[in-house]
Amino acid sequence: MREQKKKGTRYPFWFGGASSMWAAVFTHPLDLNKVRLQTAKKPGNGPKPGMMDTFKMIFRNEGFLGLYSGLTASLLRQASYSTTRFGIYEELKSIVKKPNKELPLPTLIALSSTSGFIGSIAGNPADIINVRMQQDGALPPEKRRNYKNAIDGLIKMVRQEGLTSLFRGVGPNSGRGALMTASQLASYDEFKMLLLRSGMFDDNLTTHFIASTMAGGVATLICSPVDVIKTKIMSSQDPAGIVHLLQETTRREGMAWAFKGLLPSFIRLGPHTVLTFIFLEQHKKIWRAIYSSDDEVKL
Ligand SMILES: *[C@@H]1O[C@H](CO)[C@@H](O)[C@H](O)[C@H]1NC(C)=O
Repeated sequence: MREQKKKGTRYPFWFGGASSMWAAVFTHPLDLNKVRLQTAKKPGNGPKPGMMDTFKMIFRNEGFLGLYSGLTASLLRQASYSTTRFGIYEELKSIVKKPNKELPLPTLIALSSTSGFIGSIAGNPADIINVRMQQDGALPPEKRRNYKNAIDGLIKMVRQEGLTSLFRGVGPNSGRGALMTASQLASYDEFKMLLLRSGMFDDNLTTHFIASTMAGGVATLICSPVDVIKTKIMSSQDPAGIVHLLQETTRREGMAWAFKGLLPSFIRLGPHTVLTFIFLEQHKKIWRAIYSSDDEVKL
C-alpha cells in the first residue's frame, strides 16, 4: 500500500519524451518548413520565399508525405533529447523539493537548464540527422545523402565520418538546449503555479493550455534572439568578435534585430510546447487515475 502511494506520486521518467514525440508528429511539417526556409536560395533577385511558398513547394515536388520526410529523425531526437531533459528535470525536482512547498523560480531555472544541457548532449546525434534528412529533399539528387531513416543515418554517419562526428556542434547546441529548457519547463511550472494560486483556475485543460502557451511565448522571446545571433556569427566576416558585431548591428538596425523572425519562431515553438505539455498532463492524469483507484481498492 505504501509502495503504491509512492509510485503514484512519481511518474515514469519517459513521460516527457513520449509527450514530445506525440507533439513532434503534429508539428514536424512546421519544423521541416523552417529548415527549408533557412537553406532556401533567393531565386535570382526576387524576394526570399515565405512560409506558404515553402509549403507549396514541398507539396508540389514531394507530395503530402514530403511534409513528413525525416519524421523518424524528429522522433529519435525527441526520444533522446526530451526523454533525457524531462526525466532529469523531474528527478532533480523531486530530490530538491520539500513536502507542501513550491520550488522558487530560480531553483526551477537552475534545474531545468542543467537538464536541457545534458539532454542536448544526448540528443546531438539525432539532431544532426534530423537537419540533414529535412534538407535532403531540397538538394540536387547527386548531393542527397538518402538516409532511409534515422537509424540508417546514424550508421552511415559513423561509417563515413567517424564516431566523433555525432557530437559535432555539441557545445553551442547544449547551450541552446539549456536556454530552451529553462524557458519552457521552468516557466510552465511557474505559470501553472501562479494560475492555480490565483484561485480562478483548476488543474485542468484550460489551465494547461494557457500556461503552456505562455511558456511557448517565453521560450520564443528568449531563444529567437539567440538564434539570430547564432546565424549572424556563423555568417559574419567580422574578426572583432560578438560584442562588436552586436554593437554594429544595433547601430545599423536598432534593437529590431532581436525581434526579427519572432512570429515565425512562435508559430513553430508555440504549438510544439502546448502539445507537449497537454500530452504530458494527460499521461500524468491517466497514471494518477490508475494508481488512485488501486489505492481505493486496497483501502
Ligand atoms: C477548467 O476550470 C475552469 C475554472 O474552474 C473552468 O472555467 C473551465 O471551464 C474548466 N475547463 C475545462 C476544459 O474543464
